[in-house]
Amino acid sequence: MSANIEVIPSGDALGAEVRGVDLSKPLDDDTFSVLEAAFNEHSVICVRNQELEPEAYIEYAGRYGEPQNLFLNNYAMPGYPEILYISNIQENGKDIGHADAGCVWHTDMSFNKNPPRATALYAREVPTAEDGTILGDTLFASAVKAYESLPEELKEKLKGKQVVHDVLGRRRARGSGTQDNAKREQVPLMNHPAVRTHPFTGKKALYVVNGECVDIEGMDTDDALELIDELAMTVIREEFIHRHKWQVGDVLLWDNCAVQHLASHDYELHQRRMMWRITIGHTDVYE
Ligand code: SIN
Repeated sequence: MSANIEVIPSGDALGAEVRGVDLSKPLDDDTFSVLEAAFNEHSVICVRNQELEPEAYIEYAGRYGEPQNLFLNNYAMPGYPEILYISNIQENGKDIGHADAGCVWHTDMSFNKNPPRATALYAREVPTAEDGTILGDTLFASAVKAYESLPEELKEKLKGKQVVHDVLGRRRARGSGTQDNAKREQVPLMNHPAVRTHPFTGKKALYVVNGECVDIEGMDTDDALELIDELAMTVIREEFIHRHKWQVGDVLLWDNCAVQHLASHDYELHQRRMMWRITIGHTDVYE
């Protein structure tokens, strides 16, 4: 194990920096178990100042679960279908990456039966304002702390509640939901419990997002939407949020079973942002 490995909590509801590891080299099992324990405890971990080839990045991500392949995705790195470009950079007038990822609060792919365990972002270019202010922060909110904050009677009320997730709802929430009927067959509705038990820590977390969650089984839809809104707004209360200010070389990993995230789109086209994203593993969702 790396003798100098240190885990430094952010002091917020979630998040920690891990120091003393070089991800360009294979991690021995002891070092990885420190990283994984930090990940399970803090939900978001970041290792700074990394210089990684795609292979090393994929190998690191693969320690947490199988990296998903993005064959046929226009924004996948050529030759590396595991890596998705999240970027505002254009070449010949065309986006080379996914330019509007993370525009609304969400947890990745919750409209799938088995959503990913984790997502990794590796910062390659970070936008800054003329005065040097870092732009394009990513915000994370603890759905675990949010659940723990609920009054007991609301926790009781949520028992057994199945929430309907609709990816098209998310697109509508950010104003890009066109041709919904045509796409419905490709992206069927998915039910998940309002509260999920974390598959690694056993902690409970709210699993409800505004926009994407469109109903609750057995409830009147207006009442369901009101409850969804209340729960989703609880997750993103200031006290549950950690804001990550990026530096080039950051390798950050978030836990989709415990957090929601939001990307700040506060930069212009000439302020280049390039992130390499890997979506990792598949989880069972259960109450
Ligand atoms: C994402 O939601 O996948 C991207 C987050 C970010 O770019 O900050």
